[in-house]
Amino acid sequence: MIPQNLAKRLREAHKIVVMTGAGVSAESGVPTFRDAQTGLWAKYDPTELASPEAFARQPKLVWDWYKWRYGLVTAVSPNPAHYALAEMAHLVPHFTLITQNIDNLHQIAGSEGVIELHGNIRRTKCSDKGHIFPGWPDDTAVQPPLCAVCGSPMRPDVVWFGESLPRHELEAATAATLQADVFFSVGTSSQVYPAAALTVEAIKKGATVIEINPHPTPLTPHVTFSLAAPAGEVLPQLVAEVWERAAVAIA
Ligand code: OAD
Repeated sequence: MIPQNLAKRLREAHKIVVMTGAGVSAESGVPTFRDAQTGLWAKYDPTELASPEAFARQPKLVWDWYKWRYGLVTAVSPNPAHYALAEMAHLVPHFTLITQNIDNLHQIAGSEGVIELHGNIRRTKCSDKGHIFPGWPDDTAVQPPLCAVCGSPMRPDVVWFGESLPRHELEAATAATLQADVFFSVGTSSQVYPAAALTVEAIKKGATVIEINPHPTPLTPHVTFSLAAPAGEVLPQLVAEVWERAAVAIA
């Protein structure tokens, strides 16, 4: 049940910003970033593999790990949380969706203009000049394959530990956050900065901040509303109770 004061606040909202993390894809079957790795990858710590140093040291290992993750995300579908966010965008005056996820599930669910803070695993780029290519190149004798333009080794178009976030995306996400009167933090442990700083900014500027996460995070004590439940349950309920029923009542 959505608290009545939250429902009222959302109906009055003018600019809603939503930032998602791996938890929004958990109900699609995509392991969250800090979930235990499975199979042959169980012995590797993701933070060890998702770095330029690891790629420089063992490019094929990192390439193979991301191909495994690419296979995971292309085998699953968006869940009700993704669809509820795609619908919410049409129910409020201004809506911005920011994601830390690289799985492209928001886009498949119909969300447009998604701000991808950490890139997108469905794109690859070369490690020297950053030439971007859609999808993954076919397997070649050389692994990782070499860029067709400049010949440097290919890598996934995602942000690695120690790398800067894409400037345009971070600026757009920050600008939207500073103007938001309502800010959702959905399915993120709020441990990784600068992404987590957006939620902090929203709190500091006095926006209504709603956290959706079955488990507490470092920011839980500071948000306006903490909905401790799975996103796939809460978000569809919220869209139905706050907007759809209100629309029927008015009609
Ligand atoms: P984490 O794995 O750190 O956190 C996932 C969060 O989702 C946890 O707090 C879970 O409690 C929560 N969660 C799990 N199931 C959920 C559900 N059904 N509904 C809602 N929440 C649920 O993933 P992120 O916070 O996204 O960065 O991690 C942020 C970044 O850390 C990742 O983007 C990655 C990593 O470094 C890069 O790869 C650059």
